[in-house]
Amino acid sequence: MFDDVLSFIRQLYREPEGFIPLHAPIFFGHEKEYLCDCIDSTFVSSVGKYVDRFEDMVCDFTDAARAIAVVNGTCGLTAALGMVNVRPGDLVLTQALTFVASANAISHTGAKPVFLDSDRDSLGMSPDALKAFLKNHNPADGHIAACVPVHILGHACRIREICEICAEYDIPVVEDAAEVLGSRYEGQHLGTFGTFGVLSFNGNKTITTGGGGMILTKDAELGAHAKHMTTTAKIPHKWEFRHDNIGWNYRMPNVNAALGCAQMEKLDAILMDKQVIASAYKAFFEEKKDITYVDAPTNCTANYWLNTIRFDSQEQRDIFLTKSNDAGIMTRPLWTLMSDLPMYTNNLNDGLINARYLAARAVNLPSSPRKEECA
Ligand SMILES: Cc1ncc(COP(=O)(O)O)c(C=O)c1O
Repeated sequence: MFDDVLSFIRQLYREPEGFIPLHAPIFFGHEKEYLCDCIDSTFVSSVGKYVDRFEDMVCDFTDAARAIAVVNGTCGLTAALGMVNVRPGDLVLTQALTFVASANAISHTGAKPVFLDSDRDSLGMSPDALKAFLKNHNPADGHIAACVPVHILGHACRIREICEICAEYDIPVVEDAAEVLGSRYEGQHLGTFGTFGVLSFNGNKTITTGGGGMILTKDAELGAHAKHMTTTAKIPHKWEFRHDNIGWNYRMPNVNAALGCAQMEKLDAILMDKQVIASAYKAFFEEKKDITYVDAPTNCTANYWLNTIRFDSQEQRDIFLTKSNDAGIMTRPLWTLMSDLPMYTNNLNDGLINARYLAARAVNLPSSPRKEECA
């Protein structure tokens, strides 16, 4: 059972026997050159030309007004939430079907995440669930200070609708765009719809800086403020140390940004190969009755970070997970719902019907870009 799926994946990655990871980075550009240059210059830490260059490259690519490089996506989200005035004791709306960092970033501000349901097609926060929650919310249960929709696996949430609903209630939106560098909704890059959006460059993402993140904003003034706040809120001066706020030391080191610049130069080639891989998976699973390829929703141009399939039952899913991982092909289920993790079981949630359905049936397949095809 499923032998045909496993041999298809081996064929796709031209790996007849060896281990196939879920998502590994590829380095085939100026990575070593920029890293050596960075070391030779001694500017390996919090100041240097690569940080500015990397920010400009991401800013141009995403069409943001400003991009601010930070140490990782989690810290970027925490800072963004602080900057939209999320305070201890507040409630922040997010979704249960996400990686734990979305909820943790909210918790690090002292606020409480509230877990809403996802749409079955986009996998992201459901605008209907959001509307229903806001309509029935009793202010005595807490002040809703922000909303963090998460674009998961490369797919877009119905972000325009979510922003419109939040605007009605005067709730700022911070998009968790950690997984979606290169994904667009109606032509606009994800992470640029809300007040802030945050990308991740962790080692398993479409491109990597080792560890790192980027705060995006369409508002240049807010962007300048975010840069200031994530670099200890220091007032520029030739020799004096003065700080005008309780800032964060979240600036991405120059050595990580050097890697990022080299990776950004290859992003188009990587995205193109990921499209090819996705098309191959789609064509293969079209023939299968009991497995569905989970494609990006309409209006979304996906980066196809991870390719996802859905089984008819959890039992089938578990058989496939066991068989593929035993065979050295790394596959993974979606995350355990946030509301089922011990630190979040007492948080508010809305029943999570779709999130539970998806979490029980979906599996992510190997989706790394292929070096030979990209080079
Ligand atoms: C949905 C989501 N949010 C947030 C993060 C956090 O990013 P980082 O690992 O850079 O802190 C990640 C990934 O790692 C993620 O997948």
